[in-house]
Amino acid sequence: MPLARFSLTALAFAGLSAVAVVGFTLQSIAQSAATSEAEAPAEPSQQIFIMPRSGPFAPDTVAVPNARVIAAWARSGHSDATSESFTHWNEDGEIPPSCGTCHSGIGFRAFHGLDDGTPGPLTAPIPIGGVVDCDTCHNPSISRVTEVTLPSGIAHPVAAGDASCTTCHQGRAAGATVAKATGEKEPDTPDAELRFINPHYALAASSSLGGYGAGGYHYPGKDYSGRFLHAKPVATCVSCHDPHSLDVAEATCLTCHQSGDAEEIRIARQSYDGSGDTGKGIKADIAANAATLKQAIVDYAAEVAGKPMVYNGERYPYFFADANGDGVIDEAGGRAVAYDAFTPRLLKAIYNWKFVTADHGIHVHNPHYALELLYDSIEDLAGPLGMDFAGLGLLR
Ligand code: HEC
Ligand code: HEC
Ligand code: HEC
Ligand code: HEC
Ligand code: HEC
Repeated sequence: MPLARFSLTALAFAGLSAVAVVGFTLQSIAQSAATSEAEAPAEPSQQIFIMPRSGPFAPDTVAVPNARVIAAWARSGHSDATSESFTHWNEDGEIPPSCGTCHSGIGFRAFHGLDDGTPGPLTAPIPIGGVVDCDTCHNPSISRVTEVTLPSGIAHPVAAGDASCTTCHQGRAAGATVAKATGEKEPDTPDAELRFINPHYALAASSSLGGYGAGGYHYPGKDYSGRFLHAKPVATCVSCHDPHSLDVAEATCLTCHQSGDAEEIRIARQSYDGSGDTGKGIKADIAANAATLKQAIVDYAAEVAGKPMVYNGERYPYFFADANGDGVIDEAGGRAVAYDAFTPRLLKAIYNWKFVTADHGIHVHNPHYALELLYDSIEDLAGPLGMDFAGLGLLR
């Protein structure tokens, strides 16, 4: 922690110096913020003071332009150097190339060639200890990034503000990853080659692009809603999220919705979860169908795949074997046994369940796509389970 606090002070210092000396451009601000630690301000004319000199003005009433931004960022997840997202590799001492792009600003810059290297997948490990620093989003060359390739292979054009978010919040797998793994295999036969495919976390950029982004597994013969355009004033990540605090202001929603609470908002006049309750937010329909799908997954594992399953959301890879069905995860050599009786049908349903629940804002980012993926996955499991699917009263 002392280290983190030190660099924050350095950032504050450099951020302010940029404002006062070179004027107010985003790139110059953050550029100097990022390179600050090594460089002491050179000339006396560039000496900047974080706090105004004492005088007739109380320091706490004097506006310090960058302080607000830095404070907001410092309180956000992006700067939280102690989170699992930034400490996961501490024991290894370095972040492998396949993970570095999104788990450190250094990796992000290397991936896009902003460090003067060649853009493309990382070829070398990245040092531990990085966060989503200022120079991730404010690198002077970030405007060169005009499209971002998603895990589905789609090259999606991005506007300046969203280029960074789309790179890191796109997840790590797509429906195509699942289709490739399952191929032409028998749908209900457990296959030792099949392993859980993790769509990864906080994949808002993928979910919001819906069927076009193809992050979810798409069942043959079904149509999927594309990008959730929502409404023009709220079409980009940073039109809702403050890029530094990452918060979403309720006022942003109140211009169009009666509530500013995302969990309460509903436009749909129909009930998707069979409850008939259209007074609750659309989030509740998505949550209810996700719960129905999860139950169907557990039932299918025991009854069709022939090996009961235990889910533990705190522990990778989340789905574990429970051969005797006693509700306790099996162990072998002191280690939890990952679920190992996946059938193609089970793998697809689990992938979609995980995809939908991995984005905690999917009710805002793309409610339609979430509801479609859940409906189709439940329907697909219902057949071999002998479930009364129509009786659930779900809508797609
Ligand atoms: C495309 C960008 C991207 C790549 C590549 C990536 N991650 Fe992540 N990862 C994220 C994001 C974004 C989060 C933040 C999720 C959140 O808000 O909790 C995350 C979160 C995590 C977490 C924390 C999960 C939790 O439960 O809090 C772990 C662990 C993790 N990633 C491991 C990995 C590993 C291992 C690799 C490489 C094999 C990897 N990541 C590659 C984007 C990525
Ligand atoms: C995740 C990306 C991201 C990170 C990290 C980030 N910024 Fe920003 N910043 C942006 C975006 C996008 C805008 C433009 C906001 C807009 O258009 O409303 C912006 C705007 C700004 C502005 C001008 C607008 C304002 O709100 O005052 C300043 C100053 C700034 N950033 C400084 C910083 C500093 C200093 C850091 C590090 C402490 C930082 N930023 C980290 C994305 C980021
Ligand atoms: C270099 C990769 C990277 C970039 C660029 C990035 N993020 Fe993140 N983001 C992450 C990681 C990693 C986390 C998880 C941080 C943690 O767990 O502390 C995260 C967390 C978040 C969260 C959850 C906040 C929390 O407290 O858990 C939101 C919201 C978010 N990012 C939005 C954005 C937006 C909007 C942008 C673009 C302006 C953006 N991110 C750009 C990697 C990135
Ligand atoms: C229409 C406004 C809106 C847009 C556009 C939007 N978000 Fe969100 N996002 C939200 C809201 C509201 C939440 C919180 C939902 C809740 O808590 O009920 C959220 C949640 C998130 C989370 C999860 C935060 C957490 O605490 O787990 C991430 C990550 C995120 N958004 C990233 C993004 C990215 C990246 C984009 C652009 C691809 C984006 N968002 C576009 C409104 C928006
Ligand atoms: C400029 C107007 C506008 C703003 C601002 C706006 N929305 Fe919306 N919102 C809409 C419209 C229009 C729809 C219906 C879009 C559709 O289904 O195609 C919608 C749909 C939604 C839905 C899905 C409801 C359902 O039943 O399908 C949610 C959730 C939502 N908005 C949340 C938010 C949040 C959270 C904010 C603020 C961060 C916000 N919106 C800001 C216009 C707006």
